[in-house]
Amino acid sequence: MAQTVRFILGDEIRELTDIDPTMTVLTYLRTVERRTGTKEGCAEGDCGACTVVLGIPDGDRVRYRAVDSCILFVATLDGKQLITVEDLRDRDGSLHPVQQAMVDCHGSQCGFCTPGFVMSLFALYHCELEPSDRRISDVLAGNLCRCTGYRPIIEAARRMYANGNGDRFTAVESAVIEQLRSIQRADTLTLMHGGRTYYAPVSLSTLASLVERHPDARLLSGGTDLGLLVTKQHEDLDTLIYLGDVRELQTVCADGDQIEIGAAATFTDAFDAVADHYPDFGELLRRFGSVQVRNTGTLAGNIATASPIGDSLPALMALDARLVLRRGGTTREVGLDEFFVGYRRTAMQPGEFIERIRIPIHTRRRFAAYKISKRFDQDIASVCAAYSLALDGSTVRDIRIAYGGMAPTPRRARLCEQALAGCPWNEATVEQASHALDRDFAPITDLRASSAYRSLVARNLLRKFQLETTHGAVETRIVVYAEHCHG
Ligand SMILES: Cc1cc2nc3c(=O)[nH]c(=O)nc-3n(C[C@H](O)[C@H](O)[C@H](O)COP(=O)(O)OP(=O)(O)OC[C@H]3O[C@@H](n4cnc5c(N)ncnc54)[C@H](O)[C@@H]3O)c2cc1C
Ligand code: FES
Ligand code: FES
Repeated sequence: MAQTVRFILGDEIRELTDIDPTMTVLTYLRTVERRTGTKEGCAEGDCGACTVVLGIPDGDRVRYRAVDSCILFVATLDGKQLITVEDLRDRDGSLHPVQQAMVDCHGSQCGFCTPGFVMSLFALYHCELEPSDRRISDVLAGNLCRCTGYRPIIEAARRMYANGNGDRFTAVESAVIEQLRSIQRADTLTLMHGGRTYYAPVSLSTLASLVERHPDARLLSGGTDLGLLVTKQHEDLDTLIYLGDVRELQTVCADGDQIEIGAAATFTDAFDAVADHYPDFGELLRRFGSVQVRNTGTLAGNIATASPIGDSLPALMALDARLVLRRGGTTREVGLDEFFVGYRRTAMQPGEFIERIRIPIHTRRRFAAYKISKRFDQDIASVCAAYSLALDGSTVRDIRIAYGGMAPTPRRARLCEQALAGCPWNEATVEQASHALDRDFAPITDLRASSAYRSLVARNLLRKFQLETTHGAVETRIVVYAEHCHG
């Protein structure tokens, strides 16, 4: 049984034995390592001031991923490389190309947010050689700057490739791979500290028996929900079982008729498979949190959290996704629309967990998903909607309609679905059927939206879907814009 967290900090191996497993990486860096370049802005994954980069072994390469250190537990660093802004400058004192570009383009003013920007750009520098402007914006959406403005930072992102994208990290990549291999473990990491216990198994069977033996333990995946319980609610998490090291759960596979996503696959890992088959779902995921959140957060975590405004849930429901739930050596499959049984309550039994998610690949249905939020990036939805439509000619054979933000759980609009089945798919029938939504849902008013607004948006999104499936997206946008302008 391993009892030491081993990771590489910059280029040196660190071994931590007596460590609080729920200490955040940010706290560890600032208070133990005294690396104060990494800043705390919000302590909830929103501002990006705490961005660091993880090096994760991937065959003969190292995958560099930007993450928010404020909600990442230090125990989860085991087997990885941690790179902070202090590591970037070369031994001869020269700045890293990313840092140099930020200086040259005047991309830093207060300096507080700058290390986070630099680290996000460093990860981009290592992943892509010619990112589009849209990609640069996506990468920077998880870093907030309130003074310099984004223009010079975007310019720095373009300029950092002036000499290609090789740096001293590229030069020592094979040595880092060797180092990373030397700290991989074959058995469960178990930490006990101050009354807290942390298990990080590497096999599915050990995970299953741990969860069965400790039905009250909190399961930890990306920690983008759970981390906030520690940093914001100051909750004591007594027993944690980490899923992220279980190889069998990291897989994403799309065969002929379904996409299967393991519970420990991050949004970033799952993105291509989902976006290839369902571009609208891909767009939803592109707007999910930030790159940092998507680099650690998982679809399974989003489902298990069972939030009424979990972004992926209406889309998964409309697509008729199914969950493989495991308890010990037994599995069962549950449809997503039977999974949510009440506000933040699910059909999971004690000792059970989500092993994987199965999304059918529908080739003959029309699918669309929409997220309505006050800000485009990094915002919580007021309403999310997803539709999956099968037509016989121009008649609705069946339609699956699911909404988030309209009820205590994400839910299908069964009455509206029934009202549309067998009807011609046109504006008049959709307009009529959309009133059934008022019987399907009685949404609440809260700080994000009023009940009336939510109901109106829900109806309008259905109309938008009908227009888009009939006229195409561009024309629809013009129609909606024209309607908006003319009242
Ligand atoms: C800055 C920020 C932005 C965000 N933006 C969005 C957004 O745009 N849209 C959105 O929907 N959410 C958003 N979230 C919420 C969060 O990122 C998601 O809910 C995410 O999918 C959670 O996944 P995770 O792996 O991090 O879960 P964790 O935090 O590790 O776990 C979440 C919960 O699920 C349980 N759990 C995890 N895995 C399993 C499993 N396999 N089986 C059973 N239980 C399990 C855990 O015990 C815990 O209760 C955001 C969060 C942050 C911090
Ligand atoms: S401190 Fe704001 S994202 Fe971590
Ligand atoms: S440079 Fe720090 S907020 Fe803009």
